Amino acid sequence: MASTEPDEEPRLPGDARLRRPEPSVLRAEAAPPARPLRAEDVPAALQLSAAAQWNQHADDWLCMLRLGQGWGIDAVGDDGRQRLAASVIVLPYGRDFAWVSMVLVLPEFRRRGLAQALLRHALAHLQGQGRFAVLDATPAGHAVYVQEGFVDTWSFARHRREAGPLPAAPPAGPSLRPLREDDWPAIEALDAPAFGASRLSLLRSLAQRLPQAAWVAEQGGRAAGYVLGRNGREAAQIGPLLATNAATAQALLRAALAAVADQPVYVDLLDHQQALRAALPSWGFAFQRPFTRMVHGAAAAPGDPTRIVLAAGPELG
Ligand SMILES: CC(C)(COP(=O)(O)OP(=O)(O)OC[C@H]1O[C@@H](n2cnc3c(N)ncnc32)[C@H](O)[C@@H]1OP(=O)(O)O)[C@@H](O)C(=O)NCCC(=O)NCCS
Repeated sequence: MASTEPDEEPRLPGDARLRRPEPSVLRAEAAPPARPLRAEDVPAALQLSAAAQWNQHADDWLCMLRLGQGWGIDAVGDDGRQRLAASVIVLPYGRDFAWVSMVLVLPEFRRRGLAQALLRHALAHLQGQGRFAVLDATPAGHAVYVQEGFVDTWSFARHRREAGPLPAAPPAGPSLRPLREDDWPAIEALDAPAFGASRLSLLRSLAQRLPQAAWVAEQGGRAAGYVLGRNGREAAQIGPLLATNAATAQALLRAALAAVADQPVYVDLLDHQQALRAALPSWGFAFQRPFTRMVHGAAAAPGDPTRIVLAAGPELG
């Protein structure tokens, strides 16, 4: 007789019943256990992010697993093979909070409670550390997070530019120069209050990924902004970009873009940066999708977004 009863035996990783879509039966409590993600899981993790058409490169997964902690769920697919079906990563920032990142479920395993199960696992881990959780939600993820008690704060949008020449630069602009090793204290002084915690290890790691896109703006002998870029699976990404004024923001973005004008590029622009948002179409950018910064266990998002122009990316903050 076909064994289709849901509660016949305990569910294990790779449980064959995960092949069938039974969203109301296989809920988060019954999902196979989460297991730690390690560097050797990166090829399988890349399949997860690529299946969602996300832009992460193997270097991104490795960096996040080095700076934080990840968990996954293994399950058996329609082809009878066991694989990594779902992921989550937490990235601790400072002492008070952590980023919840890479909440991904392979399409054939969706609506079975796997995202909910991993999210609960991550939240319990963070609660044990006394940290609240922050994340940047896609519209699909938003539905999952609201149910777990996350609340909305501010928002931003992803824009994409295809390879091609940039329009002519304005004749005069703020003073910019390539980032130098001795700039890090000034970058930290600008970035930490805006982001809400120090993230120097992450920033230094990003700066190595695309050094020609790393620039600093100076005004009156002080840092007035900085920008970093990085390689991706199918496009470069420019961000984070912080600046004390709109002209500096535009000049920094232009300098970083010049380094990657021959490839597609993503930027994650905060909605309150209206001057730059109005300029993006004339630079060849098209809106791609919205994101919402959400928090769990706190009243507001950490930091002060006034000077944040481009987020590092939804997976990093
Ligand atoms: C978003 C995502 C992680 C959800 O994974 P999942 O395992 O299917 O989610 P769950 O089964 O745990 O969903 C729990 C509940 O959230 C809600 N939910 C999940 N996905 C939803 C969607 N696409 N639309 C509306 N509600 C949704 C439902 O209420 C669901 O319960 P139900 O199935 O009983 O109705 C998955 O669709 C995915 O990987 N998407 C692409 C990547 C992405 O956007 N990740 C989120 C990053 S912020």
